[in-house]
Amino acid sequence: LHVAVLMGGWANERPVSLMSGDGVADALEGKGHKVTRIDMDRQVAARIAEAAPDVVFNALHGVPGEDGTVQGMLDLMGVPYTHSGLATSVIAIDKELTKQALVPAGIPMPEGTIVKSADLFEGDPIPRPYVLKPVNEGSSVGVAIVTDDSNYGNPIARDAEGPWQQFETLLAEPYIRGREMTTAVMAGPDGPRALAVTELVPKSGFYDFDAKYTDGMTDHVCPAEIPDDIAALCREYALKAHEVLGCRGTSRTDFRWDDERGADGLFVLETNTQPGMTPLSLVPEQAKYCGIDYPDLVEAIIADALA
Ligand code: DAL
Ligand code: MG
Repeated sequence: LHVAVLMGGWANERPVSLMSGDGVADALEGKGHKVTRIDMDRQVAARIAEAAPDVVFNALHGVPGEDGTVQGMLDLMGVPYTHSGLATSVIAIDKELTKQALVPAGIPMPEGTIVKSADLFEGDPIPRPYVLKPVNEGSSVGVAIVTDDSNYGNPIARDAEGPWQQFETLLAEPYIRGREMTTAVMAGPDGPRALAVTELVPKSGFYDFDAKYTDGMTDHVCPAEIPDDIAALCREYALKAHEVLGCRGTSRTDFRWDDERGADGLFVLETNTQPGMTPLSLVPEQAKYCGIDYPDLVEAIIADALA
């Protein structure tokens, strides 16, 4: 096959995407495929047309590679591509729209409040402790946990150091104490299946950008050492989210679990339609746990795109 691997671009997650894209491209070359690496710019449509690949592997993260824009362009061009399509991407990139899709389907998520960053001058949008996050970013870019003893003053937006400063629309959610987990879903000829549950245990602070991508900063416990009923719920919710949103290829659903509240304390935070494929990423790790090595995972995602 001739595969064009789309990566990079101008998203905040550009460096992550370059790592994902290089990993994917190396694996495909190792399998004997012809690979064209494309660092996305505004001429990307012309470059894809010129390369004329059999399929595009979308290794982009964030906007506009994960929000439907690139998917719509590829639809128009008639080029098959990996991962979710336009409509799914538009919904899943937006953490509030995702709630509107998943909560009615019976998937528990924390109640969110949309807030304009300028309105933070009025004070806390909801009682502390809470999490403030951009609605459409990934890799914890721009995320802050605001607690009673955090440094953020009140009104919190006067803190020029706040990571939310560059974002106009934010989501405030009650902070869920306890544990952080994630479950990958992978498509296959027999339909999608949930791979495993991984618990993320950062050595300090929370599972933020540095904890995600710096080797040794977070322990990945796979399979998570949690009760069977909680693990089963993680798999059930991840699979249901994948299906309700209409994901393709692979997706990864992230959780918080308040372990003092049993099954009632499990909440989905979001579903990622373009989950990371870097050496520290979780979908490849869970695939490996299931006996699927990285190159086979990449080929399975491509096979799903061409099915
Ligand atoms: N947004 C990053 C790439 C992830 O979900 O893995
Ligand atoms: Mg995400």
